[in-house]
Parts: sequence; structure tokens; C-alpha cells
Amino acid sequence: MLAKPLILGLETSCDETAAAVVGAGTRVYSNVIATQHELHRRYAGVVPEIASRAHLERILPVVREALQDAGTGFEDLDAIAVGHRPGLIGSLLVGTSAAKALAWSLGLGLIGVDHIAAHLQACYLDTDPDQPLREALGLVVSGGHTSLLHVHGPLEVQVLGRTIDDAVGEAYDKAAVILGLDYPGGPAIDRLAGRGDEHAHDLPVAMLGPDSLDFSFSGLKTALLYAVRGKPKGSGNRFERDAGDLTDAQRADFAASFQRAAVTALVAKLQRALDRVDVGTLLVGGGVSANSLLRERVETLARDRGLILRLPAPGYCMDNAAMIAGLAAARYDAGSFDDWTLSAATHSAVREGWIAI
Ligand code: KG4
Ligand code: ZN
Repeated sequence: MLAKPLILGLETSCDETAAAVVGAGTRVYSNVIATQHELHRRYAGVVPEIASRAHLERILPVVREALQDAGTGFEDLDAIAVGHRPGLIGSLLVGTSAAKALAWSLGLGLIGVDHIAAHLQACYLDTDPDQPLREALGLVVSGGHTSLLHVHGPLEVQVLGRTIDDAVGEAYDKAAVILGLDYPGGPAIDRLAGRGDEHAHDLPVAMLGPDSLDFSFSGLKTALLYAVRGKPKGSGNRFERDAGDLTDAQRADFAASFQRAAVTALVAKLQRALDRVDVGTLLVGGGVSANSLLRERVETLARDRGLILRLPAPGYCMDNAAMIAGLAAARYDAGSFDDWTLSAATHSAVREGWIAI
């Protein structure tokens, strides 16, 4: 007997087509992710048109596989959930339309979930269901977002800070391009950094004034570009050197120095926030929460401050639909459903102030 409510979640915000069946918000019965990395690799980034077409081809096979893996069928489901914001509009529309069609034809409730809030819910997947999301400090670090949140409960968060320019994952991906590494860049830099000297280059850690809880990563990206390739000449796209001139050891030193600066900025803002909000739990989610140095540094921080630390299992850091279905369970329990006017939106609801999810 599968735990209730049994929710089918869909996720199509960027370049992963995903479906999952989750019971009681935390028990993951299936988690299918069809990644499109091979389609976007030659462009070193996600091409929106290619992404939406691929979602369209893959969404129904992925849903069927999720039901099959969970050993269940449409008739056992209690609701259909979808990540409907933020993301690439064409991609989000595929998931949102599929979720509406499924919910309408099956006579089930529809729940649209904010992808950013769902990344924190990933910390609770496959954990003891008796440990609900408590008041916590939450950090969401992904390819599109870097947000510091005071989490008051699963359906209520307060934005404390966010990036004023690039997201940290985006900076990782750009740094990988600068160093001539493969796409997606975050995991490549993480691996390479393990072999380098993090003090080889003194790259900037943006603090943005003594009280700021915001982040900035574009200066770090530019500093890395100039350190690797020298100063630009003439109109700006010719440089003194090329990343191809680097030895493997030099490349590793750059990766490690970049990673030290990026992670130091994230941890510094967590420390500042912890001086201001009284919480017993620290949550970190999003693709960059898979990063080995960040995981190590937040473990130390939580130990020093006597906090419970919740990090997603590695398989739930990157985009997935289990986190969408997991967060939707809280909405289901609260009797909060969406109607057929639910639409896709490029921006997160989690932007400023207090937000009801
Ligand atoms: O959450 P996510 O899957 O998608 C978005 O919502 O954006 O995050 C993807 C981001 C990419 O920028 C990727 O390079 C980064 O997460 N990432 C990492 C690591 N694994 C994924 N960044 C640093 N270290 C990693 N190990
Ligand atoms: Zn994400």
C-alpha cells in the first residue's frame, strides 16, 4: 500500500524532463529524469527552442515510466503537481499543459508549485516523514537562482537575500567555458578543483557592504576571465592568452581558486543571516548543493552553530520532479489547489518579502 496523498509531479522548467510519484510528501516511489544535456552540449548552454521541443517528445513516456517504476497507475493518484515557475517559458508550458490535461481528464486536483521553494523540499525526500519542514534558514543555489530564505514552514517563506546579477550555478557554468571544460560546467569545475591549489589565485569574494545578505557573482566571473586570458585588447574580444595554453595543473588551480571564492561568498552570507534569524535548522538545495566544497563548508558551519543540517541526497540536488510532488503534498494537506487558469511564469514567486507558497 503506497502512502497517501499519492502525487504525480512533473518538472520541465529547463533542460530536464522529469516525472515522479511521491507518497505523503517524502516517500519517493519513482523519480524519472530524462536529461537533455547531449542536445545542448555543443552550444555550451541551454537553447530554449530545442528544450521545449524535447520536453514535448519526452513528457508522456517519462510519465508512463514514473507510474510503472512506482508500480502504480493513474487510478491510484490523488493529485497532479507541476513546477509552473520559474524557468524557460516554452519548457514550462509543456509541463503545465500536460499537468492540466492529466488532472482534468482524471478528475484530480491540480497543484502548481514554485521550483525555487521545491528545491528546499528536496532536503526532506526519503527522510523520516515524522520530521516535517520546520522553521529554518534556507539557501537555494541553482543555475538560475541564488536565494537566502527564512523558511517559516513548508508553505511560507521570507526572502532575506538574492543575487543581484548572476546565479552561482551560472557563474560555475561560465567559469567552465572560460577554462574550456565540458557542459554542464558545475560538476566539471568541482571535480577539477579537487586537484588544484585554492590559494593559487586571489579571486574576489563579493560581500556588498557590511549588512547585505545579497550575492553577486559577475565580478568573480570577469576576474577569472582576465586571470586566465589576460586583459582584453582592442574592441574587447581579443585577449593576451587562451585557455588552451594552460597546463592541466594550471587549469585545476584556477578551478580551485574560483570554487573557493564562490563558496566563501555563500557561506559568509549564511553566517550573516544566522546572526539575525533564530533558527535551529539549515536547508541547502538546488544543483550547486551537490558541490563537494559547499557541502563540506556548510557541514562545518552547522556543527559550529549547533544546527541541524539538511542537504538533499545527491540525486535530489539537480532538477527533479520528486521535489515538486513533495512540496505539493503540503498544499494538498492544506486543501489548496489551482484551477484551470494556472499558467507558466518565467519569474519565481519567491522574490521579495513574505511569500505564501
Ligand atoms: O537546480 P538545477 O539543476 O537547475 C536550475 O534550477 O537551475 O541547477 C543546475 C546548476 C548548473 O549551473 C550546474 O552547473 C550546477 O547546478 N551544478 C553544480 C554542481 N552540480 C551541478 N555546481 C557546482 N558544483 C557541482 N557539483
Ligand atoms: Zn532547479
